[in-house]
Amino acid sequence: MSHAEDNEGTRRDFLYYATAGAGAVTAGAAVWPLVNQMNPSADVKALSSILVDVSGVEVGTQISVMFLGKPVFIRRRTQAEIDEGRAVDVAGLIDTASENPNKPGTDAADQNRTMDENGEWLVMMGVCTHLGCVPLGDGSGDFNGWFCPCHGSHYDTAGRIRKGPAPQNLHVPVAEFTDATTIKLG
Ligand code: FES
Repeated sequence: MSHAEDNEGTRRDFLYYATAGAGAVTAGAAVWPLVNQMNPSADVKALSSILVDVSGVEVGTQISVMFLGKPVFIRRRTQAEIDEGRAVDVAGLIDTASENPNKPGTDAADQNRTMDENGEWLVMMGVCTHLGCVPLGDGSGDFNGWFCPCHGSHYDTAGRIRKGPAPQNLHVPVAEFTDATTIKLG
């Protein structure tokens, strides 16, 4: 097999992988691996980072993508969700300290958990911090954020645990905007 053919095969494999792994993505969103095809370690990079096209995510909706075998929630919050999250006194939270790795040294205040200064984009692991179920979103639970039906954990509009057995806020993964409509995970 020529080098060129080899690259072709590699590319197809990863496109298939991304499609299969992105089954939960809603219409209008696309996910693809970050692959430099000329780089021999492209497979390793593909597994450690993905780019997510969020151009189709409307205000008040979210998508879920699979990343490293786990769901990641990407929500574009409404102003009401932002206001509700920012009105909460951090000192009264169950988990005041969980840190956003993209903003080291910060606490669980609403503005520290979002991708952007306006607080519109919230990216979190879709894994309940109790025993790992996938919480329900779109304003679920007593705090209008996410609700884990497994044992009744309620998360607020910033994904912070407010009631129930979960000990920590939903974790924030390493993530950044690479342009206005693309989020890189990992
Ligand atoms: S796993 Fe979510 S409440 Fe137990």
